[in-house]
Amino acid sequence: MDKLVVNGGRELRGRVKISGAKNAVLPIMASSLLVEGITVIKNVPNLRDTRTFIDLLSILGAKCNFENSTLTIDATNITSIEAPYDLVKTMRASFYVMGPLLGRFGETKVSLPGGCAWGPRPVDYHLKGFESLGAKIDLNQGYILAHSDNLKGGSISFEIASVGATANILMAAVLANGKTSISNAAIEPHIVQLCDVLVEMGADIGGIGTNELIINGVEKLSPVEITVIPDMIEAGTFLMAGAMLGEIELENVDPSHLSIVLEKLEAVGCDISATTSSISIKRSGILNPVDITTDVHPGFPTDLQAQWIALMSVANGKSVVTESIYLDRFSHIPELVRLGANISLEKNVATIRGQKKLIGAQVMSTDIRASASLVIAALIAEGRSDISRVYHIDRGYENIEEKFRMLGADIHREKE
Ligand code: UD1
Repeated sequence: MDKLVVNGGRELRGRVKISGAKNAVLPIMASSLLVEGITVIKNVPNLRDTRTFIDLLSILGAKCNFENSTLTIDATNITSIEAPYDLVKTMRASFYVMGPLLGRFGETKVSLPGGCAWGPRPVDYHLKGFESLGAKIDLNQGYILAHSDNLKGGSISFEIASVGATANILMAAVLANGKTSISNAAIEPHIVQLCDVLVEMGADIGGIGTNELIINGVEKLSPVEITVIPDMIEAGTFLMAGAMLGEIELENVDPSHLSIVLEKLEAVGCDISATTSSISIKRSGILNPVDITTDVHPGFPTDLQAQWIALMSVANGKSVVTESIYLDRFSHIPELVRLGANISLEKNVATIRGQKKLIGAQVMSTDIRASASLVIAALIAEGRSDISRVYHIDRGYENIEEKFRMLGADIHREKE
């Protein structure tokens, strides 16, 4: 297993290129299962999760080739409709193959994902959605079996706007007979991109970018060429590091995806300027404490909550962070406390009392974004920090240490 070793306290200065978005590319990769022929996906980040998804598509019979950020997937000859436990347990997004396999073949068998580091993450919306499209769902030996000889349009309404369920149901509904409506659909930029990709393939989807999606099923879709949108969570992570430690410019980023984050960073006191594809951030003398509450898009993303707590750990005063999407998503707090942060947690509300400094320590990654918060906290902490279980961060960040090194950080990878 690898660990990251960080000698903190160095200024960050320079430019960093943001990679393609993990949460956009995974459903797009799944959507390639809907078509015969070769789907070409550009700006694909080289992550553990994208490689795991390639393994999954290959098990299903798709032919994949990944070189220089371009991934081609030929899903003409699919030989299996089963997503095995060994892959699904390492990456919940494997569940995304369910919708397209059901849509194209009327049948799929996918391992139930199980728990996750931040508490229960149910898939009931996905399953109820497939049932609304006429699929029969059974659970057998930890696997969900979905079957339909005649998938038909249906009406689905989510209690909470779910990214995963919206994507999965979309990918089944585009090939169902008749009209499907999805109410309270997710509107995250990666859902908008998935809709755009499906439309490009020949799907009929109305209301893209709104909470009400209307899908009129079509007979057949065709393969397309796509460029993945920039990763707003990677961008947000670098912005928070810049807010703590210097002056950096992000390239290949879409500021419109990060409006609330930029607003909050301005309230912290940072100087921010943006073009259509870049954002510059300059640290302010004093970091003001700023409260946030996570919410679905365009609210503050839960995937940046941990990094925000790291930033607030060195702010000038008390701030409050409320997690409203995943109420238990706080495994980073005890690790940040090991670095000297002062954080108390009551239910889903963290209160952070900013400290003058953090001090390096040995800490442990617990999930992708928790690890990112430890990296940025370690970058500001005095002295050496060792961050173990880096495989979590490798799931969602491409070359993170190299990107930070280019900005002047003292960070490297070692075998544990
Ligand atoms: C996706 C992201 C993840 C992000 C999350 C919220 C991917 C691969 N992952 O996860 O990084 O943190 O969105 O932005 O894109 N829910 C149910 N039943 C369901 C589905 C969801 O109750 O069947 C609830 C969840 O517990 C949660 C909320 O709905 O409280 C939103 O979850 P959802 O948007 O589905 O998250 P994911 O798609 O799993």
